[in-house]
Amino acid sequence: MIHQFCSITSIEKLNPSIIKIKFKSPLIAQSAKQGQFVNIRIDETSVPLLRRPFSIYYTTEEEVEIVVGVMGMGTKKLTHKQVDDTLDIIGPLGKPFKLDDGEDISILVGGGLGAAPLPMLFRSLQRLKKNIVIFLGAKNKEYLLKDYLPAKYISTDDGSEGYKGNIVSLLDNYLSNSAGKSYKIYACGPTPMLIELIKVARKFNINCEISLETMMACGTGICQGCAVKSKNSSKKYLLSCVDGPVFNAKDIEL
Ligand SMILES: Cc1cc2nc3c(=O)[nH]c(=O)nc-3n(C[C@H](O)[C@H](O)[C@H](O)COP(=O)(O)OP(=O)(O)OC[C@H]3O[C@@H](n4cnc5c(N)ncnc54)[C@H](O)[C@@H]3O)c2cc1C
Ligand code: FES
Repeated sequence: MIHQFCSITSIEKLNPSIIKIKFKSPLIAQSAKQGQFVNIRIDETSVPLLRRPFSIYYTTEEEVEIVVGVMGMGTKKLTHKQVDDTLDIIGPLGKPFKLDDGEDISILVGGGLGAAPLPMLFRSLQRLKKNIVIFLGAKNKEYLLKDYLPAKYISTDDGSEGYKGNIVSLLDNYLSNSAGKSYKIYACGPTPMLIELIKVARKFNINCEISLETMMACGTGICQGCAVKSKNSSKKYLLSCVDGPVFNAKDIEL
């Protein structure tokens, strides 16, 4: 885990509610793995007091990129940052997606900005020469995170791009017509989507890893603020920040 003050190298406002920030940190960039996150102290004031977690969206040798959806005070303040401003960052944190459980086809499913961990995962699976199929869904086309991701199946709730409806029903259809291969599902997105997705994974008996966006504070296992119910009899709760945010769906209760 690295704690660094990092300069912002680029800020791109995609629309009033979504920004992409790149910051310079060769150390974090080169050690980050698919599914990990950084915890950012927004500024020196006490509002917000706690750091805010963001998935590592993409890395180069020198830089780390995150995508930020404006939710409340912390993310709003991030939209006022400028190139050369400094961010106080801890990372990379959390357990990454486990690559390659021997599946014939790796299925990546992302919902809205929750899809942010997928580009890193896609790149890692590509390096392993896996067959990859990508499903991306969002409430409208502005929330589809398509950069770096050649998504074959796209859905939006309002029909502004792709299939009008739910990405999990597209996945269900795809699997109903794809017998004879072994699959693994890697998914991230809002909890209601993940709950429905786990039902589909169970229906087809497919190994499934999910990345949760449980609310966090310390991000390092100290405050116990990110507990997730465990299905493992030896441990009642797991901590999303250190045991996750990526979990095998069979290990937790949502
Ligand atoms: C591991 C992890 C990775 C994340 N990655 C990303 C990312 O790549 N891009 C991104 O835009 N966001 C991501 N988030 C969510 C992001 O951390 C929150 O949106 C952010 O902390 C909100 O801070 P705020 O001060 O703006 O909002 P607050 O003022 O703290 O809250 C505003 C509203 O947002 C809700 N909220 C706060 N945190 C969360 C959360 N974790 N999940 C759902 N609702 C929340 C609150 O309940 C409240 O209604 C991630 C969260 C986790 C735990
Ligand atoms: S956020 Fe503090 S223990 Fe997980």
